[in-house]
Amino acid sequence: MSRVAYVNGQYVPHSRAAVHIEDRGYQFSDGIYEVCEVWNNSLVDMGSHLDRFDRSLRQLQIRAPMSRGALVRVMKEVIALNRVKNGLIYMQVTRGVSPRDHYFPPKDTPPSLVMTAKSVSRLKNDQIAARGVGVITVEENRWDRVDIKSVGLLPNVLAKQKAKESGAREAWFVDKNGLITEGGSTNAWIILKDGTLVTRPATHGILKGITRGVLMKLAETKGFHVEERGFSISEAKQAQEVFLTSASGLVMPVTKINETIMGDGKPGPIVQDLRKSFHEASELIKLNVAGD
Ligand code: PDD
Repeated sequence: MSRVAYVNGQYVPHSRAAVHIEDRGYQFSDGIYEVCEVWNNSLVDMGSHLDRFDRSLRQLQIRAPMSRGALVRVMKEVIALNRVKNGLIYMQVTRGVSPRDHYFPPKDTPPSLVMTAKSVSRLKNDQIAARGVGVITVEENRWDRVDIKSVGLLPNVLAKQKAKESGAREAWFVDKNGLITEGGSTNAWIILKDGTLVTRPATHGILKGITRGVLMKLAETKGFHVEERGFSISEAKQAQEVFLTSASGLVMPVTKINETIMGDGKPGPIVQDLRKSFHEASELIKLNVAGD
């Protein structure tokens, strides 16, 4: 089955989906994005993702490309056209197409909106989670506004590539105080020996992950204490369990930090349980996928 993308008002074959070379996203990374999980024929935590989408647009003074209702209709259509039952939907808005100039383009320049959806094997993800993943640490070198989900991801790309070349899956950024901020595309967590879950506060230095918020609720429902504070590499190495959260990887156990193997090198029971029950705490919006 061939894939279909949404590009500025049209549903087009994925292989031919394109924007103009003077799109400001292409030239200046002048845009924002969201990634939302599709799980078991449902959109996961769509409301929270769209709230963050709106916030990112406001922070960069980019006009919303359409109303939320219309956006949701396009999301559902892209998912249906690609027959995605489990996977991800990606949406991106840029400040539009205009002759290259650092200043904002004229106010009537329409923002560009593109969306794609792809199927992701749940089994494959679960297999990765069953083994656990490795992380490396790199110096924080990103700008100060990582709370905005901007498409300017070059430091994240370089850090994650370095992780891959080291046989790891994620790179954690470490700030000038020696505290871990977050991963290249995930939030970072540790579980202390007394069962307390620790993650950095979303006030500064991280993207306020939607998965992070849901996990926080889930953990509290299960009776865990969640502490929002920074933690260092050495504290993480001494933790009982370590994990990552993101819409694409959900709750992902970490079994290696740099050269240090965590415990017996296998995912721990708390993380495995949180992963298994994750969707109990998330908001699910049922979709009608053709051929279901
Ligand atoms: N990544 N931190 C960063 C830098 C991220 O890019 C992401 C999301 C997260 C986790 O946020 P959430 O739980 O809302 O997915 C944290 C997405 C999935 C991506 O870029 O593919």
